[in-house]
Amino acid sequence: MNKYIATICALPIFLASCVGSSLSTTEQRIEDLLSEMTLDEKIGQMNQVTGMGLHEDMKSMVRTGKVGTILNELDVNTVNELQRIAVEESRLGIPLVIARDVIHGFKTIFPIPLAQAASWNPELAKLGAEVAAKEATSVGIRWTFSPMVDVSRDPRWGRIAESYGEDPYLVSVMGAATIKGYQGDDLTNPATMAACAKHFAAYGATESGKDYNTTWVPELQLRETYLPPFLAAVEAGSATFMCSFNDINGVPSSGNQYLNNTILRDEWGYDGVLVSDWGSIEQMIPHGFCADLNEAACKAANASVDIDMMSYAYVLHLSELVNSGKVDEKVVDDAVRNILRMKINLGLFENPYTEVTEGEDVFYTESSMEAAKQAAIESAVLLKNDNKTLPLSTKRVKRIAVVGPLADAPADQVGTWCFDAEAEHSITPINALRDKYGKDVKIDYIPTLTYSRDNSKKDFSKAIVAAKRADVVIIFAGEESVLSGEARCRAEISLPGAQSELIEALSKTKTPVVTVIMAGRPLTIEEEVKNSDAVLLQFHGGTMAGPALAELLFGEVSPSGKLPVTFPKMVGQVPIYYAHKNTGRPASNITLIDDIAVGAPQTSLGFTSYHLDAGDSPLFPFGYGLSYAEFDYSAPKLSSNSIVEGETITVTCDVRNIGNCDAKEVVQLYVCDEVGSLIRPVKELKQFEKVEIKAGETKTVSFTLSSDDLAYWNSNTTKLPEKGAFKLWIASDSNSGVSQSFELK
Ligand code: GLC
Repeated sequence: MNKYIATICALPIFLASCVGSSLSTTEQRIEDLLSEMTLDEKIGQMNQVTGMGLHEDMKSMVRTGKVGTILNELDVNTVNELQRIAVEESRLGIPLVIARDVIHGFKTIFPIPLAQAASWNPELAKLGAEVAAKEATSVGIRWTFSPMVDVSRDPRWGRIAESYGEDPYLVSVMGAATIKGYQGDDLTNPATMAACAKHFAAYGATESGKDYNTTWVPELQLRETYLPPFLAAVEAGSATFMCSFNDINGVPSSGNQYLNNTILRDEWGYDGVLVSDWGSIEQMIPHGFCADLNEAACKAANASVDIDMMSYAYVLHLSELVNSGKVDEKVVDDAVRNILRMKINLGLFENPYTEVTEGEDVFYTESSMEAAKQAAIESAVLLKNDNKTLPLSTKRVKRIAVVGPLADAPADQVGTWCFDAEAEHSITPINALRDKYGKDVKIDYIPTLTYSRDNSKKDFSKAIVAAKRADVVIIFAGEESVLSGEARCRAEISLPGAQSELIEALSKTKTPVVTVIMAGRPLTIEEEVKNSDAVLLQFHGGTMAGPALAELLFGEVSPSGKLPVTFPKMVGQVPIYYAHKNTGRPASNITLIDDIAVGAPQTSLGFTSYHLDAGDSPLFPFGYGLSYAEFDYSAPKLSSNSIVEGETITVTCDVRNIGNCDAKEVVQLYVCDEVGSLIRPVKELKQFEKVEIKAGETKTVSFTLSSDDLAYWNSNTTKLPEKGAFKLWIASDSNSGVSQSFELK
């Protein structure tokens, strides 16, 4: 180890013992190291570049302290050699951190985050993150750019796939659990990695669902909708944050002092690392916020952006900006403090190298694959099940026809942001069905469409023949993975290609049609649902999507997923979400466009808030999901009909499984503040609990509701509850349940 480091490691302990330093050991170490650093060395720590193997330029940058972190370097021997150069050949021996987008798995791929949110099971999200960390750290990755905690209410936006959906509370819970999974209880553990709450902030508010687009977010909506998951990430101890590409009301996040200095640093006291997004500092030039890279570096540094990912703005301009006084060196020092703190917390000064293991000892282990299957099972949402078409039974079903472009699409079923997935490890639905049920059931597989955008109907006749011969036909439909994710936005969100026509053609065969949807977003599938007897949604379910779907279809386990995002009937309804305002003319007397008499006068229709061609409700609401069981909810019981500020009430509900199979149910608590100095949403999710209830049994689910739970931002600076009338529901989704009134006194 570099002699400097050895001394510096020992120094604070010696100093603290002598002078009783008020600083913690870590903070003392940081100050000691910082005091040794030149301005160029400080700026080098603030520079992040993408891996280029052991190219001489990379080795030179590392040796001369011109780079502090590297992303996308995946060869563990290269990582160790670069680390050796950093620790043993650079002047101060400061170790590197290697970063990667490990978004929902490294090798063993878990369902996309939107699907994981559909499980409403934070423990599963945490487990998935632990598996991802174990696999990724084995090649030297100690920092992942995940979880994405952008509230997303626009299914046209490709990155909704990476989000945990439309509700700030559910996004907060899932994001915090994922952070805990990545970071564990001790970040110095070499099998853990720093998390990164992204994209700060309001990226999901992108206009028209087009990526990187502008956003217009009033302060109170920022506070109420988009910031809570990031505050939850601070409270969960996320080691890092990442800027968003977008501007908020004309100010790009990478240069937004109000967002990053006032809120993140001052209000929230965040001392973790804030990294720009890829090139987002430089992109403030095309944004029209900076005239050149020099100004971009200045605005980013003065907006607390500690690390510049791939703009080279800091290494090219920050030294001159400091020397000219445009950027105070204290700003640089604070950035370097945050970076050194992350490296110390990762234990990299004491343990900079990665133990080289054989991939098969770490990747795709039986326990990891089982965890991925369980996550895929609990992420599946049963949207329709007429005449109990599902679950299938090998007693009742002797021949099935399997069709569709997603039945055997190993690279597509894992979804977006899976750079390191290996398709050969994916177990697809057709293979899982054959493996598990092929002995008892004859399976005819006619792909019919070879990929989701395929418009060819040449094999329709084969599919129809197979369906007519079968007891049931299962179509695996949806989107190729490339149709969602970053910069993968769609103005129409229907099933691509000829999939809808195929479902319609199959529906005419009189054979029961089971449609399985594997996609990266909500889709407008009203017709397809009508033409199917049962519909099971899994979004993109990961490596083990196949076995999960097979077991769900044949009833080894009941679906338990609930929608984390609203499914619109038509894309023209977007944005449509459950926590909407009531308006002064809530929808009533709805007259749909086909019901309007020819020559009807203007005054013949209800003057309320709805679309003539869509009505006012979604296809499926937030929180919705059926089960093979059936749950009966009692009316909520309150310990009191009033809450005194600062106190709590207990709210309980008896949930009875009146079905004939054991199953899990997500019991949801919603609240409505009926009158406010600002109008409030018609409902807001406040808590939930996922419970397993055996057939015939009853579970009493209990929630504690405090006056703090009723608070809302009614000005830029105050979040307070207001006395008055409230309603609450304990229900199976956001559109059902019996309300109970209570009062805040
Ligand atoms: C991308 C994404 C961000 C990702 C980063 C590094 O553009 O916006 O989410 O972490 O670049 O790959």
